[in-house]
This record gives sequence, structure tokens and C-alpha cells, in this order.
Amino acid sequence: MKHLLKLSDWSTEEIFEALDLADKLKYEKKHGISHHLLEGQTLGMIFSKSSTRTRVSFEVGIHDLGGTGLFLSSRDLQIGRGEPVEDTARVLSRYLDGIMIRTFAQKEVEDLATYGSIPIINGLTDYCHPCQVMADLQTIREHKGTLAGKKLCFIGDGNNMANSLIVGGIKTGMAVSVSCPNSNKPDADIMKWASENGSFTCTESVLEAAAGADALYTDVWASMGQEEEAAERRKIFAGYQINDEVMAAANPGAMVMHCLPAHRGEEITAEVFEAHANEIFDEAENRLHAQKAIMVLCMKK
Ligand code: CP
Ligand code: NVA
Repeated sequence: MKHLLKLSDWSTEEIFEALDLADKLKYEKKHGISHHLLEGQTLGMIFSKSSTRTRVSFEVGIHDLGGTGLFLSSRDLQIGRGEPVEDTARVLSRYLDGIMIRTFAQKEVEDLATYGSIPIINGLTDYCHPCQVMADLQTIREHKGTLAGKKLCFIGDGNNMANSLIVGGIKTGMAVSVSCPNSNKPDADIMKWASENGSFTCTESVLEAAAGADALYTDVWASMGQEEEAAERRKIFAGYQINDEVMAAANPGAMVMHCLPAHRGEEITAEVFEAHANEIFDEAENRLHAQKAIMVLCMKK
């Protein structure tokens, strides 16, 4: 049994094991080969925030693996009325074989793992989004053939996506550049670790960060829970956009990535989004395959 609480907990070998398994499961799904690797197991899926991709891909994924998914809105659980995580974790461990949780505080995810006795998978916190980045790495490798030596550039808010992309990129041998306002940088410890363990830069200059990139990545300027700051954030991040000028700075044939949902005209132009829709929706599809691999590696008995 293991958890996926954040990507930094997994070694490079474990990440590549998941990516290889994700490719295999994708191939099998496309060819109608069933793979009931988690036959009879039940995954609880706790959501304290909205979701389209994470919810549907986990639910379909556990079904594909021969198990059952249980959607649990925190609004309906006692946890939403203040029942401690310590107790919730111990109760759910008696019923379920694994938990996927999407919430605000990273500590809640870590506490579930500490007090529970079943695998915990992080489906997004304010701090990180490891499942998304596993799918992102699978997608970059599919389109570019390899990860090591490629350059990944993230433009926008130094948020949960930025944090996980830095870790995932550096661990798999990519050069990672981030462009964000100095007021909204990624996590300081992650940036320090990245600088010490690979090729990492963080700059306010979008064109400098994008220069020579093989994959350009962006995300919303206002994340879930920051809706009231949206107007203010539109001012802070104006200019941190993937557009034709930024594309021209990247390597010819650079791919464009977005975890979605996207705000056209803010972090990405409608033109660039549509020109790269194939890559962006491959990326969304790979959530399914990557998370099936993660579930198998965490939950297989
Ligand atoms: N990218 C992502 O996690 O999408 P959802 O919020 O729809 O799950
Ligand atoms: N940064 C975004 C990612 C959504 C998948 C958020 O947290 O809302």
C-alpha cells in the first residue's frame, strides 16, 4: 500500500513506473482488453471543491479496474459539519479500499493518511495537483517522445499546478521555467529544491521563460477558493498569457497544455487554445489512464 499525497513523495523510478503503466492501460483500453486489477475494491472520492475531470476520470477509472467509486461530497459528510479528520479517516478505512480527496488544505490530506489505514490519493489541494501532473507527463512523453532534456515552461500564477509541475518536471529530467509576477511565485521550498536538483528558473519575463520551450503550460489566474479575488487577479496577471507572441519565442512545434477549465482571453488566447486543442484534450483524456495507474500502484493488494 502506498499514498500519493504529493509528487515529491515519489521517486523518479516510481513516477516512471506509473507512466509506463498508464501507457499500457491506455493501450489496453483502446484495444478492448479488460484489466480488472482492483476487482471488488471500493474507492471513496471526497470532494470539497468542484470537479469535472477528476471526478469523472476517477469514477470511470475504478470501474475499468473492476472496482466501484463512491462520490462523497464534503457538504453531505459529517466532516463538513466538523467531524475530525482523525475520526473520518479511521471510519472510512473500515469500509473502503482507498480514498481520493480534493480539498483546500494539504494538511487534511496528510492527516487522512496519518490516521487512516488505506491508500490516500490527492485529487488537488491549494498546494499541489499530483494526479494532473502525472497525466501531463504522460502527454508530453506521448507527443515529444521523451521527457529528459525537454523544456517545460509554466506561465501564470505560482499555484498548485506550478508547484506540482516543477516537481514532476525536475524529477523526470526536464528543464523547468516559470514566469509569474514576483508577488505570486510558486512555493519557496519547491523552488529551492528544484534549483538544487535540476535546471530551474523563475522570472517575471514571459518571453524569457518561454524561450526554447518544448511545452508551454498555463492555468487559471484565480483558482478555486479565490473567486472573490478574480477582478484583482486579472490586473496582477495581465500579460501572463499564452498568445502568438509567446508561441513564437518557444521551440517550433512546441505543445500547449492546460489542466482546464480554461478562461479564453485571460491566461490563453482562444486562437492558441483551439490551435492546440488536440494536445489539451489528449492531456484531459490522460487523466483517466494516469489515475488508473496511480490507483493500481497504491491500492493493489
Ligand atoms: N484539471 C482538473 O483537475 O479538472 P477538474 O477541476 O474538472 O477536476
Ligand atoms: N489552479 C486550479 C486548478 C484546477 C484544476 C485550481 O486550483 O482551481
